[in-house]
Parts: sequence; structure tokens; C-alpha cells
Amino acid sequence: MSSTNEFILSTSGLTKNFGGLIAVNDVSLDVERGSIKSIIGPNGSGKTTFFNLITGALPPSSGKIYFEGQDITRFSMHQRTRQGISRSYQITNIFPYQTTFENIRLAAQGCSGARVNFLGMLKKAGSYGEFHEKVLDIATIVGLDPARLYVPAALIPHAEQRKLEIAMALATEPRLLLLDEPSAGMAIEEIPEFIDAILRVKKSYGDQLTLLVVEHKMDIVMNLSEEIVVLSEGKMIAKGSPKEIQENEEVLTAYLGVTDEKLA
Ligand SMILES: Nc1ncnc2c1ncn2[C@@H]1O[C@H](COP(=O)(O)OP(=O)(O)O)[C@@H](O)[C@H]1O
Ligand SMILES: [Mg+2]
Repeated sequence: MSSTNEFILSTSGLTKNFGGLIAVNDVSLDVERGSIKSIIGPNGSGKTTFFNLITGALPPSSGKIYFEGQDITRFSMHQRTRQGISRSYQITNIFPYQTTFENIRLAAQGCSGARVNFLGMLKKAGSYGEFHEKVLDIATIVGLDPARLYVPAALIPHAEQRKLEIAMALATEPRLLLLDEPSAGMAIEEIPEFIDAILRVKKSYGDQLTLLVVEHKMDIVMNLSEEIVVLSEGKMIAKGSPKEIQENEEVLTAYLGVTDEKLA
């Protein structure tokens, strides 16, 4: 087992079968604390299933998951959240008629509430003022338009809603944040600012936050990642820097018909 400080997350022989189908096949992966790692792979290669195993949404068929050196393989989703693992909220978790600000504040407050309960204390879950500053800080980091902070979340542009999902996840103070196709549904011209937003998040939190991103848009993956992990039919077929992955023959074959230009 690797040292706790170096790796925030490790999987060992992680496997998930759905009947006869092996969706995740014997994946052993170490994630360095404070890194940004991306998982790529063709449709159906097991990326979302891998995330579901990490968050505890699905139990593995075999293998182990360690978070900060602790075996969390049998932990519930709730226990994992409490330990510091979070995935970005989905659009469906946003309260559409609440403002952007209020959505982040509620996420932040939910987190403190849980912590207060956990400690068994009778303290109220933080004052409005305390959260006010925290919400504004997070909104600035993810780059939410200040002019739209007090507009109902349903009415802000789609790309801002995706940022709001990340902001809400950050408000719960995760140490490991999983983003599953965070740019889904975005227009091409919205992508550069979205990449900047994620890089700003990373820079602001430093080693306090590790990001694991599933993404199929190659420009995002190549710009964002320190290391890329490639899944194909549930197996980890490659791991390396963006440059190494772009030059990897096996990866190009897995993305049948995908050429260098398309990966660039
Ligand atoms: N709950 C499930 N029940 C049965 N099969 C599933 C389930 N979830 C995913 N699969 C199958 O597992 C494989 C991997 O799926 P998924 O992890 O969603 O891939 P990806 O996210 O890489 O597109 C696919 O063949 C998919 O059909
Ligand atoms: Mg998926």
C-alpha cells in the first residue's frame, strides 16, 4: 500500500460486473494528492461506473478502494462524502427557483450541518454572514458572473449552471472532487473559459483539492490534465502525460478512427 500523503486515492484490482459484462476490469490506480487527473475512453468503456465505485453509488464486484490510506471499499456514499469525496452536483440537484447565490449557500450550509451533527454538538450551522463571504469567494473562483448571482438558477446560461454545480460541490469542502463530463452540453466557444475556471479552482485550492475528471472533449483533457488514464472495455490500457497519451498507438486504436489531428 502506498503512503497516505502521496496518494489521496488508490484502487486495487477494482472490478465491476453487470451480469456477464465486465464494466470495470481490474483497475489499479493511484491518484496523487493535489493533482488533476483525467479519465478518458470510448463510450461504454466504464468511466462513469468507475466513478460510481469511487463515490459508493455502486458496490464493486471485487477489489479495494483506499482514501487517504483508509480502506473505504464498504463505506456508504454518505460516509465517503463525510470523508471528503464529492462529485459535482448535477443540474437536477440545483434548486431552479433559488438564486445562484442561494444554491451555493445551501450547499455550504448542508456541509456544516453534517459536520456539526457528526461532532454531536448542538451548535447552529453557522451564521448567514459567515456563509456570505464563503459563497462570494467560491463564485469568484469558478467565475460566476456577479451580475447574475441573485438571479434564479434556472435563468442563468447553461455554461454558468455547470459552473454552479462545481461551486456547490466546492461549498461542501471536498478533498477529492469527481467531475463527470463537466462540459457536457456546452458550446465550443464556452470551453476556453470553462477550462480556465477549472484551472483557477485548482490553483486556488492547491494541494487541498484533488480533481478527477471524466471528459471526452480532447481539448479540455489535454489542457487540463497532469496525467491521463485511458479505459477501454473496462481495462486501464494506458496512463501518462497528455503528450504520451497523444502518441500512444494502443490509445489511438481504442478510439477507432480517431486521428492525431482529432486528438490534438
Ligand atoms: N447499472 C448498469 N447495469 C448494467 N449495465 C451497466 C450499468 N451501468 C453501466 N453499464 C454498462 O457498463 C458499461 C460501461 O458503462 P459506463 O461506465 O457508463 O461507460 P462510460 O461512462 O465510459 O461511457 C456499458 O456497457 C454500460 O452499458
Ligand atoms: Mg459516462
